[in-house]
Amino acid sequence: MKKKNLVIANWKMNPETILEAKTIFNNSRKNTQNLRNADLVICPPDVFLLTLSKLQRPKNIFFGAQDIFYANKGAFTGETSASQVLDSGAKFVIIGHSERRALGESDEVVARKLQAAFDSGLTPILCIGERERDKEGRHLEFVRNQIKLALSPLRKKNLIGLIFAYEPVWAIGKSSREAMSPTDIHETVLFIKKTVGELAGRDVAQTIRVLYGGSVESENAKSIMEHGNVDGFLVGHASISDDFGRILRSI
Ligand code: PGA
Repeated sequence: MKKKNLVIANWKMNPETILEAKTIFNNSRKNTQNLRNADLVICPPDVFLLTLSKLQRPKNIFFGAQDIFYANKGAFTGETSASQVLDSGAKFVIIGHSERRALGESDEVVARKLQAAFDSGLTPILCIGERERDKEGRHLEFVRNQIKLALSPLRKKNLIGLIFAYEPVWAIGKSSREAMSPTDIHETVLFIKKTVGELAGRDVAQTIRVLYGGSVESENAKSIMEHGNVDGFLVGHASISDDFGRILRSI
């Protein structure tokens, strides 16, 4: 059975005010009216979560956080816990985004955050992806290692239905022309599923979903959806632009 597609709208550190956040949310809500075969997860900055999650929305729109801390409470100035974002209306959380990894987040911390998400009842979206590609295929080894380090501390039951966002770092924040080709995405998604199969068993690998992220725009969304072997997208800059409606329609 085909798993339900998922679109994650990663607003990153945008917009500047709650007023603008409401406008972007309202546009997204309008754009999901005809979205039958996919769920949308909006990930605004944490400070907007509570207000936005109280607004009316259809059943296929959910909220998510862009990160959490691995401890659940205590003396961790500036951090936000899984239970706090859960209490603010989030059901999902992005873990290990490359922009967090670039700020120093290690694979070990990513694994601890994944565990914290599961323990609290949040659904994590695990981001993986190489910084650069090479002809020898060493980037695949890099991706394999990221998966291994993130999954190895987890229990098998947590791995069932796990959501991955494959985001090659070199393709993030560019234009659709510079994104990865659907053929290359297809191949890498197969590689991710094979890796999960080797690490956790083929039965588990069949249940995971793999989304693609990195310069998804309306120009490339349809062909990635058709030929990329993906279960949806993680959309950054386009998720707060007028282009987002067209991306959703291509699903
Ligand atoms: P982008 O961002 O769509 O702007 O490339 C994707 C992401 O970083 O999640």
